[in-house]
Amino acid sequence: MARSFYLCIFLLFITWIPIISTSFPLSTNTRWIVDEKGQRVKLACVNWPAHLQPAVAEGLSKQPLDSISKKIVSMGFNCVRLTWPLDLMTNDTLALKITVKQSFESLNLFDDALGIQTHNPKILNLPIFNAFQEVVSNLGQNGLMVILDNHLTYPGWCCSDNDLDAFFGYPNFDPVIWAKGLGKMATLFRNVTNVIGMSLRNEPREINYPDLWFSIVANPCKCLTKDASCDPASQWFKVL
Ligand SMILES: *[C@@H]1O[C@H](CO)[C@@H](O)[C@H](O)[C@H]1NC(C)=O
Ligand SMILES: *[C@@H]1O[C@H](CO)[C@@H](O)[C@H](O)[C@H]1NC(C)=O
Repeated sequence: MARSFYLCIFLLFITWIPIISTSFPLSTNTRWIVDEKGQRVKLACVNWPAHLQPAVAEGLSKQPLDSISKKIVSMGFNCVRLTWPLDLMTNDTLALKITVKQSFESLNLFDDALGIQTHNPKILNLPIFNAFQEVVSNLGQNGLMVILDNHLTYPGWCCSDNDLDAFFGYPNFDPVIWAKGLGKMATLFRNVTNVIGMSLRNEPREINYPDLWFSIVANPCKCLTKDASCDPASQWFKVL
């Protein structure tokens, strides 16, 4: 009962989100996010994973990309948090040499490869990074804003307490490579107007926050803002 009550409230809430035509780029005005005209922008984002083993946005073997984007719009969302593995930026073999079809087939996911052939033939033989760009572009054509979310290092399930990937000090988390990957992603999508932000890393967890945190966190900060005077700690917490 309580659950359906909260669901109703939630649904009511999302139907109140006004459909506005947002003019980019977005910026902040004190606590508000505003568009180029100074109008307030409220983000209502749905999560769309593209960080799992195939490193391709989930569901493209079931529905055409454009139908998924339109469904997201019809449900009242105006934004997608699109997840990606760092490898997409730091491993060119994965990003540029392996096609969507090859990625699924290498995991013995032949039915999914066939599903993509049926529903998204345009994507089937694209390299994985180009398929990612297609998703971002289609979301943009449907008026959806995108937040590029670096979820983890290697494509796969996230997260657990023993996945070696949690944050600073863990074997699969190299802050220098992380900063490089974030910078590359930011540069590649710099001119894509519907990409309105990035989240730097999913779920930092189980960590003792060593001093390393403050010495290293300056790298992604400067790399994203290109502002030599930025204060790493305050920038970082703003993003979180
Ligand atoms: C890059 O990705 C390919 C394809 O997934 C993989 O075989 C290779 O081991 C990766 N390279 C590194 C250095 O992780
Ligand atoms: C973005 O646009 C600017 C100017 O419009 C151009 O100089 C720059 O090369 C573009 N960057 C990318 C990554 O396309």
